[in-house]
Amino acid sequence: MAVKKKLSESFPKALIEEVHKWGGMKQTGVSLRYMMEFGSKPTQRNLLISAQFLHKELPIRIARRAIELESLPYGLSRKPAVLKVRDWYLDSFRDLRSFSDIKDTKDEQAFTQMIKMIKVRHNNVVPTMALGVQQLKKDSNPKNMYPNLDEIHQFLDRFYMSRIGIRMLIGQHVALHDPNPPPDVVGYIHTKMSPMEVARTASEDARGVCLKEYGSAPDINIYGDPSFTFPYVPPHLHLMVFELVKNSLRAVQERFVDSDRVAPPIRIIVADGLEDVTIKISDEGGGIPRSGLPKIFTYLYSTAKTPLDEHSNFDSTDAMTMAGYGYGLPISRLYARYFGGDLQIISMEGYGTDAYLHLSRLGDSQEPLP
Ligand SMILES: Nc1ncnc2c1ncn2[C@@H]1O[C@H](COP(=O)(O)OP(=O)(O)O)[C@@H](O)[C@H]1O
Ligand SMILES: [Mg+2]
Repeated sequence: MAVKKKLSESFPKALIEEVHKWGGMKQTGVSLRYMMEFGSKPTQRNLLISAQFLHKELPIRIARRAIELESLPYGLSRKPAVLKVRDWYLDSFRDLRSFSDIKDTKDEQAFTQMIKMIKVRHNNVVPTMALGVQQLKKDSNPKNMYPNLDEIHQFLDRFYMSRIGIRMLIGQHVALHDPNPPPDVVGYIHTKMSPMEVARTASEDARGVCLKEYGSAPDINIYGDPSFTFPYVPPHLHLMVFELVKNSLRAVQERFVDSDRVAPPIRIIVADGLEDVTIKISDEGGGIPRSGLPKIFTYLYSTAKTPLDEHSNFDSTDAMTMAGYGYGLPISRLYARYFGGDLQIISMEGYGTDAYLHLSRLGDSQEPLP
């Protein structure tokens, strides 16, 4: 098999065979509700069960990604940045597989330390992959490139969705070890998360980035019931609102920069339905041309100058950049979909954009497992 041959250039044959064996095994998805119920009793016994589950589940998920990273079209697999990412996956696979069976609390604790370290190893996967795609884009003739974007885009959707799941599982397991968890917190899950509060913090953070970049920032008004709460993962919601608000701020800022009108505020509306909590982010930033709409959820489309280059330091640029990666919308949509929600963008060119972020309240949708 061609894939095997390439991998074996730098990795022992036994490891590659192991990766293929595990990559063919069935993944097991969990739901928000399951994680919440299971995690509400973080006894030593439950932590042991959780670690045993991850010991089997993580190598399956990681092996799949490693295999896919080897078989990307148009030479993407051979780009240095992509090889780096692939090596992180192989290293993590090896770490997991060389950990013997988890039998007692001592094993469980050592295992938890190890997966914590795996999570750190993979911190920069997104900007590193972005760099790889950038390298591909730069090296190729735009004429042959266009038909291919779809395939790469779909791969990245699968790849990042899987990453969200892996990080959620590891993060949840590690967080369950907190000896004094704050009230209503189960690992990563806040059982009484106030979407208004998270929207407010995320908006303030986005305004901070905007202020730094432009020297001023439009106002943001948030409407909804401040006492309403539901179970969700606050950092996920924070990330989505942060990205959407940054987009709105940029659009409004750039539209009104030379105008004598005061920039109209961005409006965030939080609605609590029975099935969904929907957060609408509305701006008067001029909207998106209809011809551009099919591209906004791809990983290569941005109307801002890219901040990525071979020498950039990801650690500092990652979250602090206003725009330019083209990753804000597709990644936010994946986070929404991960727990059964969705993200839609409606634009009125010449006026503004509405982003509808739907979050499923039921919590029993299974992780989508690519
Ligand atoms: N609220 C908005 N108003 C106008 N254009 C937008 C808005 N949100 C997104 N866009 C367009 O979609 C593109 C992709 O957005 P995104 O995925 O967040 O990447 P980035 O912000 O890094 O460019 C933006 O570059 C912009 O052209
Ligand atoms: Mg953006």
